[in-house]
Amino acid sequence: MSDLTNKRIVLGVSGSIAAYKSPEIVRRLQDLGAEVRVIVTNGGREFVSERSLQTISKNKVHDNLWDKEAELAMGHIELAKWADVIIIAPASANTIAKLCHGRADDLLTTVILATEAKIMIAPAMNQQMFAASAMKDNLELLQKRGMDIIKPGFGEQACGDVGEGRLADPLDIAKQAADLFTSSLLSGKNILITLGGTKESIDPVRFISNHSSGKMGMALAHACIQAGAKTTLIVGSISVDIEKRAEIIHVVSAEDMYKAVMKKINSQDLFISCAAVADFKPKKMSKNKIKKNDSPMTIELIENKDILATVSQLEKKPICIGFAAETENHIENARIKLKKKKCDAIILNDVSKSEIGLNSNDNEVHFITKNKSEIIEKNTKQIIAEKIINKLANYFFKSS
Ligand code: CTP
Repeated sequence: MSDLTNKRIVLGVSGSIAAYKSPEIVRRLQDLGAEVRVIVTNGGREFVSERSLQTISKNKVHDNLWDKEAELAMGHIELAKWADVIIIAPASANTIAKLCHGRADDLLTTVILATEAKIMIAPAMNQQMFAASAMKDNLELLQKRGMDIIKPGFGEQACGDVGEGRLADPLDIAKQAADLFTSSLLSGKNILITLGGTKESIDPVRFISNHSSGKMGMALAHACIQAGAKTTLIVGSISVDIEKRAEIIHVVSAEDMYKAVMKKINSQDLFISCAAVADFKPKKMSKNKIKKNDSPMTIELIENKDILATVSQLEKKPICIGFAAETENHIENARIKLKKKKCDAIILNDVSKSEIGLNSNDNEVHFITKNKSEIIEKNTKQIIAEKIINKLANYFFKSS
């Protein structure tokens, strides 16, 4: 199933009559979960209203390299870095020719030069223009440089001609973009992920919990599914959308999570313990709501079972991956956890920095095994998750 959840896409709209279809391309990309920003060229503006693109994309349309205000809000370099994919649809003959020459005389061509993102080109033009040998050579050159060409359709054109050159179907464009993110790296593997925080009841209305949002765990779930794995999620308290392609089991307390994991663990190849499991719970949950009185209140806590440590000591255990949220002596503490919990790798999070970890959209982690420690540098949680899953696949499943 195609999916672009958490993916950031820049749609470049250039001067072709097919630009009138660009709002629908935005919609189809959004349907698959992408966030879309639009760059429209002077030619593109002749065929589609900026207001439509702005309303549908829910973002200001970018159209001018020299607009000081726009550059302050999100400059062209920032936009180039923001994108996971840039799709030029429709790509006019002129824009394609400019790309071949590495021109940077408008916002779109400048962003293309400045990006490391994957670039997809969906040509749309008159059939005679599309058949011209200059166009063939140009597209071949762009393909050689690593850009993907989305084949145009065949049929009746706006000018009355019949032939090849119609913009590809917006849904096909969106699906081809989603295909960039799928692989068979983990196909045939069963993966169990715990995520979110647990809630430990004090009385019927109060509980002890933590700030976990479940964002990192859900990003890992997307990445596992995109890599072809059958993915099961044991979900505590979260504040993100659920990955609908996974099997979902909702739990509340650490005890519930433990039981749900133990029920599923036998059939798993990989266990990723991403949940922020409460280490302690109240010794007794009061049946009735606790009332205030004059004496100081004390809650006696007892330890919860350690789910990760239990799973990694099973006789028939899957590959076990833990997370370590640390504020000091990061690598040292993570190594101690790796050894103590007997897991195969630990993903270390520095939770002392507010711009990464816990509730933020970004993260930076260390991937720690018995012999190695590698940094995965700051990026969106989705990209970090994909890098973690690639590493796991290479470390633990490459030869199988
Ligand atoms: N974990 C678990 N069950 C618990 C506590 C933690 O499965 N009862 C898992 C977490 O999902 C995580 C790893 O263990 O993958 C590390 O959790 P963390 O809370 O950081 O470490 P602790 O062992 O609790 O140590 P400390 O709180 O002292 O840092």
